[in-house]
Amino acid sequence: MRLILTIAALLCATAAQAETPRDFLTRFEKEAGSAASAERGARFFTTKQGGEWSCASCHTERPTQAGRHARTDKPITPLAPAANAERFTDAAKVDKWFRRNCNDTVSRLCSAQEKADVMAWLLALK
Ligand code: HEC
Repeated sequence: MRLILTIAALLCATAAQAETPRDFLTRFEKEAGSAASAERGARFFTTKQGGEWSCASCHTERPTQAGRHARTDKPITPLAPAANAERFTDAAKVDKWFRRNCNDTVSRLCSAQEKADVMAWLLALK
């Protein structure tokens, strides 16, 4: 009985555990089927792709610093995990904002490879 309770407690603890930025890198690399490139991620993040904005328009070219919304001018806390422990800990939030920001920036969803590359770059920033 004791053992069963211990196992149940362990399982619950695992399910409730917050995700980490590395988990997202692993997930996107798996979905993409290939390794991420931080260099490609940096280029993707800082370059406009036909639209009015790049990711850097709101998150800056150095996302360890705070950004500002390009339209509303509202402050945005740093995106890089090294500078902001709250980033990339909640899958619902991460998926929602990738969807929205990619649509605003490149007028489509980002591919798993693009997301993996951006993650690799953000994780490399100190
Ligand atoms: C027009 C402004 C704007 C642009 C352009 C933009 N973002 Fe964002 N981004 C935001 C805002 C606003 C939030 C939500 C508020 C917050 O979390 O600080 C956000 C949040 C995020 C998050 C949530 C992360 C987390 O766990 O908290 C991710 C991921 C993200 N952006 C990635 C990107 C990427 C990748 C691009 C380029 C494809 C991009 N953003 C372009 C404004 C922008």
